[in-house]
Amino acid sequence: MSAADLERQILVVGGAGYIGSVLTRDLLAAGHRVRVLDSLLYGNGGSLAAVAEHPGFEFARGDVRSADQVRAAVEGVGEVVLLAALVGDPVCKGSPELAEQTNVGGARNLIDASAEAGVERFVFASTCSNYGLRTDEPATETDELHPLSLYAETKVQMEGELLERARHASFEATVLRVATAYGISPRMRFDLTISEFTRELALGRALEVYDADTWRPYCHIADTSAAIALVLESAPELVSGEVFNVGGAGGNYTKRMVVETALAALDGEGEVVFTEGGADARNYRVSFEKISERLGFSPRHTVPGSVERLVEAIRSGVFDSVEADPLLYLNYELSGR
Ligand SMILES: NC(=O)c1ccc[n+]([C@@H]2O[C@H](COP(=O)([O-])OP(=O)(O)OC[C@H]3O[C@@H](n4cnc5c(N)ncnc54)[C@H](O)[C@@H]3O)[C@@H](O)[C@H]2O)c1
Repeated sequence: MSAADLERQILVVGGAGYIGSVLTRDLLAAGHRVRVLDSLLYGNGGSLAAVAEHPGFEFARGDVRSADQVRAAVEGVGEVVLLAALVGDPVCKGSPELAEQTNVGGARNLIDASAEAGVERFVFASTCSNYGLRTDEPATETDELHPLSLYAETKVQMEGELLERARHASFEATVLRVATAYGISPRMRFDLTISEFTRELALGRALEVYDADTWRPYCHIADTSAAIALVLESAPELVSGEVFNVGGAGGNYTKRMVVETALAALDGEGEVVFTEGGADARNYRVSFEKISERLGFSPRHTVPGSVERLVEAIRSGVFDSVEADPLLYLNYELSGR
């Protein structure tokens, strides 16, 4: 690593979250200076405890909805990664105004401030959920989008606005459509399919699974973090103005396959009730050829390997406080925030 790399200041907005706390740790470990802007919406500041004494780390508690706080956070920054959002269909549906203000208004604040401050590179975490419904071929980046929720609508909106803005601004922008995440993070989430199914079954609860044969792609948080770092390091001509699906060839699973994987890690023990007609109509497989071919990216983690480790962690008591502190672990209820 060169001295110039050590000087690079990267702003990770939403860096205390499920993916962000892993990315922040990884960027610091790679020798970068990292500033995190995060409002700690879920009381999730503890996710940064392990990096709080790192000399390259800086934390600005603030809200992307405040143009002033965002302007202050981008000062002196070369690269910006936008992760902060209301993440997931249920929480956006439950707090639609906050979702709009954060995912659209907040993102606009950051784009404006980055353009003004002379930021060189802007990476936006979007989602494969934007494909919504795609039952024939795996979706590629140029395929039509079918956002089926307010969450996905806000992401589609900001993908378009960012790429349009970047054509005239001084920064290079890249959109990453990230697959549904799994893996153990300093800010753990148990509202995502793999972790939720695994936890319910590991605790011996009957698991109700809707529409078991619908598809979704998955990517481990450490691999998503590696993909973001790779994009930050790639030559502009490879990533500027581009959209990449983030995940790998073996990452498309049906919910039934996720259940089978969790049951295998539990020696086949567990009660599952399969039901049709759930509220979540998403059903899509995704192609990850572009990021593989253009950037040489392929995930290192697998769903079965990670599920085994999660079962061990749950059984040994690492996550015994989920029930006592649901806000910290689940992106569902935001009452009063
Ligand atoms: N987790 C997934 O499965 C997944 C899949 C695809 C894309 N993504 C995208 O990756 C990003 C991160 O997701 P995550 O799973 O880490 O979610 P998360 O909810 O764990 O993290 C979001 C972070 O943003 C912060 N935040 C929320 N509102 C804020 C505001 N107004 N101002 C400042 N900070 C605010 C929260 O405190 C939190 O730390 C999101 O943009 C999401 O859309 C996630």
